[in-house]
Amino acid sequence: MTRTFALLSALALLGPVGSYAQTSSANATITDPASYVDVFIGTTNGGHVFPGATLPHGMVKVGLDTDSPGNQAGYDANATFNATGFSQLHDSGTGGGASLSNFKLWPLPQCTSFKDCTTSLASRKTLRKTLSDGSPDDLGSPGYFATNLSTGVRVEVTASRRAALHRYTFPASSREPRIIVDITNDGLNSNTEPVVKVDPSTGRVTGGARFAASFGPGRYNAYTCVDFKGDGYDIPSISEYGVYIGDEPVKYSTTFTQLYSGFVSEMGALIGFPPSSNTTHQPTTILARVGVSFISSAQACANAESEIPDFDFDGTWQTSRNAWNELLGRVQVDTQGVDKETVDLFYSSLYRTHIVPADYTGENPNWNSTEPYYDSFYCNWDTYRTLYPLMSLHDPEEFARIVRGMINIQQHEGWLPECRGATVQQYIQGGSNGDPILSEFFVKFHEHAAALNVSADDLYTALLVDAEDQPDDWDLQGRQTDAWKQYNFIPSDIYAAGGAATKQVSRTLEHAFGDFAIAQVSKLLNKTDDFTKYSQRATNFVNVWNANISLPGHPDIKGMMQPRFASGQWNYTDPRHCSVNDPTQSTCYLDATNTDGFYESSPMVYSQYVPQDTARLIEMQGGNESFIKRLDLIFNDNYFDVTDEPSQQIPFMYHYANRPGLSTQRSREIISRFYNTTVSGLPGNDDSGAMGSYAVFYLAGMYPLPATRQFLLASPYFPQISFFNPIFNSTTTFKANGFSGNPKDGKGGNVFVKSVTVDGQPWKSNCYLDWDVFTQGSTVELELTDDITVTCGDTADALPPSLSTGGYS
Ligand SMILES: *[C@@H]1O[C@H](CO)[C@@H](O)[C@H](O)[C@H]1NC(C)=O
Ligand SMILES: *[C@@H]1O[C@H](CO)[C@@H](O)[C@H](O)[C@H]1NC(C)=O
Ligand SMILES: *[C@@H]1O[C@H](CO)[C@@H](O)[C@H](O)[C@H]1NC(C)=O
Ligand SMILES: *[C@@H]1O[C@H](CO)[C@@H](O)[C@H](O)[C@H]1NC(C)=O
Ligand SMILES: *[C@@H]1O[C@H](CO)[C@@H](O)[C@H](O)[C@H]1NC(C)=O
Ligand SMILES: *[C@@H]1O[C@H](CO)[C@@H](O)[C@H](O)[C@H]1NC(C)=O
Ligand SMILES: *[C@@H]1O[C@H](CO)[C@@H](O)[C@H](O)[C@H]1NC(C)=O
Ligand SMILES: *[C@@H]1O[C@H](CO)[C@@H](O)[C@H](O)[C@H]1NC(C)=O
Ligand SMILES: *[C@@H]1O[C@H](CO)[C@@H](O)[C@H](O)[C@H]1NC(C)=O
Ligand SMILES: *[C@@H]1O[C@H](CO)[C@@H](O)[C@H](O)[C@H]1NC(C)=O
Ligand SMILES: *[C@@H]1O[C@H](CO)[C@@H](O)[C@H](O)[C@H]1NC(C)=O
Ligand SMILES: *[C@@H]1O[C@H](CO)[C@@H](O)[C@H](O)[C@H]1NC(C)=O
Repeated sequence: MTRTFALLSALALLGPVGSYAQTSSANATITDPASYVDVFIGTTNGGHVFPGATLPHGMVKVGLDTDSPGNQAGYDANATFNATGFSQLHDSGTGGGASLSNFKLWPLPQCTSFKDCTTSLASRKTLRKTLSDGSPDDLGSPGYFATNLSTGVRVEVTASRRAALHRYTFPASSREPRIIVDITNDGLNSNTEPVVKVDPSTGRVTGGARFAASFGPGRYNAYTCVDFKGDGYDIPSISEYGVYIGDEPVKYSTTFTQLYSGFVSEMGALIGFPPSSNTTHQPTTILARVGVSFISSAQACANAESEIPDFDFDGTWQTSRNAWNELLGRVQVDTQGVDKETVDLFYSSLYRTHIVPADYTGENPNWNSTEPYYDSFYCNWDTYRTLYPLMSLHDPEEFARIVRGMINIQQHEGWLPECRGATVQQYIQGGSNGDPILSEFFVKFHEHAAALNVSADDLYTALLVDAEDQPDDWDLQGRQTDAWKQYNFIPSDIYAAGGAATKQVSRTLEHAFGDFAIAQVSKLLNKTDDFTKYSQRATNFVNVWNANISLPGHPDIKGMMQPRFASGQWNYTDPRHCSVNDPTQSTCYLDATNTDGFYESSPMVYSQYVPQDTARLIEMQGGNESFIKRLDLIFNDNYFDVTDEPSQQIPFMYHYANRPGLSTQRSREIISRFYNTTVSGLPGNDDSGAMGSYAVFYLAGMYPLPATRQFLLASPYFPQISFFNPIFNSTTTFKANGFSGNPKDGKGGNVFVKSVTVDGQPWKSNCYLDWDVFTQGSTVELELTDDITVTCGDTADALPPSLSTGGYS
């Protein structure tokens, strides 16, 4: 697929967009980081990444939909799949069903006559043109997407926050260009109560319907408003218009009134245009401006009119690109001695950190509030580990707005959002993972919370409700709190309204971490009793540790997280369960028949991942040597599951056993094996930016510990990397002294951290940094060596903190 290079020529039309970084000259400021972003990474083979046009965290995400079975974000980079439309709303990197994908527009260059136009999705769909290598003739960059359809129509799209602008260039042979506005075909073909209206004087199409959420039982309303304009010529009047049902457009009909609309699932409008009469502006190009709203079609029109008043395609695109450049440019890398693919991988991953959650402010259909409203938390279980800690580094203002939106949801619905999408609650994964997100914000920014309009009281109330109150339906709202409080673990045989009896061990571990996160907030608020209580509950992971279970065939790998009954007796789950080594080859996803207790990773991985108290885990496993042996086995025998979040921190766990060199090498091996800039360059789904954000951390040489002031430290892939934080107005710079490139396979190299200084002073540890480094805007210098046996250092504080060894300061 042609990407960056073709884009540069396309952008030349816009005039200067900034100078391009010279990869040869050291430390040059990268003023156009968007030029390094490859939006197509992870857009086929299950990555489900959205490659279309959006602002950072924009509501409208306009792009191409295909009939691929993996069209969760609409698009598929595999050219064998047909294009079906250009719709306005998407998520990115999600599992579940195809979400949103509402209101597809579709160009028809030439039907025999109006009534013969093929309007239904099945009959209109068509392939894209392909390039010589078989990839589709698609192009994309932050704020822009384009394709050439096999019908000869070129389609380009760009977006503001709540509106999209499409540009359809019809082939010269097209004497009767027409555009379909499909009201009913969302990603799940789930519409009910569709409404469509055409204004015969202007061609404006308004309408909406009710649709199904893709990962839960809820339904939502969505509305649109579409206006057309000739590009370079005036459309004197709309030549043809009408409403269609299925494949039957009815000329000059202006609305759909048949009562039994439920019997026909497809409906929309078809508009015909006179071809361009402007001889200097041919072939005919039509601009379609598409407003979207979750409130009403009138609001959809208002959104479009206010955000894209002049149908200015290049201006809308430029505004979006500028917003992306400002945001991405807060993280600067020195590219000297670094290959372009690594730089592309870095900025593309950073880009994907900022697609969702999406800013739906003003579009909340459920209650009125002046607070921000964010949606597409899909799911917090995926993103709490790395996405929000990355926002803490360079985008705290948007983070604060997201937190305000989450608190506002809790105040009106009772619970923090967990896996919210399309304005409704969706299925939870681990529990109440809004807790570590709010705590991450508060631990890092409590001194600025008031200035950012985040109420500490409201934040704390939201956390306590999650931690203490049993919801009506924990599968949509969070925790099985009654059981958690009574047993100090989630027993396999205690049922509560809502979810099936699944994931009990995983949920126990998640709740323990959630309570740890709350304890960190209690401490800052001087709520001493709460701090004691939640710190205690954070140790509940020990209640599902069965010291007698070993890995089959490995009597020395002893002690496992295991399911347990309310009586205290143990059930048994084979430690290989949920891994490629599972003899029963069972899956561990959201599935009522999944009764083994684990979610998206094996007992082997879960037994190695208690981020709040790794020191205790090491002790339970018999010390550093056996802990390292288990970690090695996880990698060597394929228990490491790169596609799912519980494995994300595993490569860095060697730090706690004083072997940070092994962490550095493992994390680099993960990048080299599983991440690249191809269309399938992602392991599994991107999970709403979870994968993108952890790749950024690995490439930056760090791994975050959410809701704490600590970051595990390795070495960056760049001789220098810096983070600008707008709240502190500070830039924190990492210098890798002795940097000599990145070994291709991730093995060896001059990449291991021998010693660290902060602002010229020796630092207490080679294994972690404190948050103060980022508030102060420090210079962190890392002395590199090729000796993998480096340690965390000799001071009393050299090992990263754990609850049982004194806790987190
Ligand atoms: C594209 O999809 C087809 C049909 O699923 C499949 O046979 C083919 O291998 C895919 N091509 C690529 C390059 O992934
Ligand atoms: C694409 O659509 C054409 C007809 O429009 C059809 O013949 C072809 O089978 C479709 N391809 C796929 C992969 O569905
Ligand atoms: C589509 O075709 C046009 C005209 O031939 C060309 O300029 C453009 O690069 C092609 N590709 C895309 C994605 O727009
Ligand atoms: C024809 O198109 C050109 C190029 O876009 C434009 O400058 C000119 O104003 C147009 N003429 C009319 C009569 O619309
Ligand atoms: C929000 O306020 C508007 C204007 O007062 C009102 O029409 C609408 O019903 C309110 N929405 C909700 C969900 O209460
Ligand atoms: C906080 O709220 C005040 C009053 O509504 C407003 O003036 C200010 O801009 C807000 N600040 C932020 C950072 O949102
Ligand atoms: C908590 O106590 C410390 C030490 O007395 C004090 O500095 C801080 O302001 C207190 N914080 C709150 C939120 O009361
Ligand atoms: C482990 O086995 C020993 C000996 O059979 C027994 O005493 C102990 O209670 C068992 N521990 C657990 C956690 O099951
Ligand atoms: C005990 O574990 C087995 C094996 O995972 C499982 O099939 C069974 O449902 C569990 N029993 C209960 C009551 O959870
Ligand atoms: C790119 O990454 C994907 C996903 O991890 C992997 O399957 C593929 O082999 C990699 N391709 C290259 C060329 O490294
Ligand atoms: C450029 O970065 C290197 C480290 O990569 C540093 O030693 C040097 O001082 C920097 N030069 C400038 C001009 O900032
Ligand atoms: C931010 O810091 C820069 C220098 O690093 C300074 O020029 C600027 O005035 C500061 N801005 C604010 C708002 O304090």
